[in-house]
Amino acid sequence: MSDPTKIWVDGCFDFFHHGHAGALRQARKLGSQLYVGVHSDEAILKNKGPVVMHLDERVYAVDTCRWTTQVVPNAPYVTSVQVMDEYDCKYVAHGDDITTDADGNDCYAEVKQLHRFLEFKRTPNISTTDLIARMLSSSCAHHIPADSTWLHEPSVVDQFAAYATAANGTDPFAAVYNCTSQGIEVLVRGDHASNSAVLVSGAFDLFHCGDIEYLEKAKVSTPMGTKLVVGIYSDSDVQREKGKNYPIMNIYERALCVLQCKYVDAVILNCKPGFDLADIHFLPGQLNVDSIRLTTFKNLSSDVIIKRVLSNREQY
Ligand code: CTP
Repeated sequence: MSDPTKIWVDGCFDFFHHGHAGALRQARKLGSQLYVGVHSDEAILKNKGPVVMHLDERVYAVDTCRWTTQVVPNAPYVTSVQVMDEYDCKYVAHGDDITTDADGNDCYAEVKQLHRFLEFKRTPNISTTDLIARMLSSSCAHHIPADSTWLHEPSVVDQFAAYATAANGTDPFAAVYNCTSQGIEVLVRGDHASNSAVLVSGAFDLFHCGDIEYLEKAKVSTPMGTKLVVGIYSDSDVQREKGKNYPIMNIYERALCVLQCKYVDAVILNCKPGFDLADIHFLPGQLNVDSIRLTTFKNLSSDVIIKRVLSNREQY
C-alpha cells in the first residue's frame, strides 16, 4: 500500500521558473513529502521538443526548491504507477493543463483511471515558451517600474507570502522587503529566529544554476543560523547595465524565483548597491562575496542561456 501523504510530481522543469515552483508548493501542500520526477533530455526531445537546460541543471534547480523532498532524475515521460510505487507515493499531482506524449495520448491516463491523480491551478502568465519568446523579441513590456504600486496589490503580496513559506508550504518563513523612493516597505514579515545576516545582491535573471550555486556557497560559508538576504536590482538598473530587453524576467518574477530557493531567508526588491542591512534591523555578519567561487556551474550565465536559445531558434 502506497502512502497517501507522499506526493509524486513529474515534469520537464526547463528553465525552472516560478510557475514550476508554484506547482511544487501546491503539490507539497497536498501531502507531507514531495518526490519530483525530472524527465531526461532524450525523453523530452522525443515527446515535446529540445530542452534548453540539461538534465543535471534541471535536477539541481528542482533539488534546491524549498518544497522538494527528493528529486528522481530520468523519470518516465508517461507517468508510471510502478515508479510511483517504488517511491511509495499514492498520488501524482499536476497542473490543470493536459500533457500528451509523442502519440498525442494523455501522460496521466493510467493514474487518472486508478484515481491516483490530483490537480492544482497552473500559475498564469509564465511558461518556458513565454521566456523564450521574450529572449527572441526586443520588447520591454514585461518590465515593472521601481515605484510601481502594483507590487503592493493584495494579490501580489499574497503570492510573495506563498513563495516565502517554509518547507511544508504553509508556515511563514522568508521575509520580503521593497525599496521605494519613500523608504523601505515590508511586504512579508517572515519568521526570523536570528538577527545576524549577510547580503548578496544581483540581477538573478532567469534564476539559473549559476545563481543557485552562488547562493548555496554564500549560505554554507556563513556561521550556522546566519540569515541569507538577497538584494534584487530593479528592472531599470538591470536594463541600464545590460541593455536591450534585459532583464528577461521582471523584478516580481525574479523575486518569486529567488524566494523559492531553500538557501534564501529574505529578499529585498529594487535593492541598490551599498544597501545597509541595519535598515531592515539585521546585524551585518561576515561574508566576503569576492571569495565565492563557483565550481559545478561556473560557466553558466543568463547570456550563455540566451545564446543556447538563439543557436536553436529555428527549432522553437
Ligand atoms: N506548471 C504550472 N504553472 C506554469 C507552468 C507549469 O503549474 N505556469 C506545472 C505543470 O502543470 C506541471 C509542472 O509545472 O505540473 C511541470 O511542468 P513541465 O513538465 O515543465 O511542463 P509545462 O507545463 O509545459 O511547463 P512550461 O509551460 O513552463 O514549459
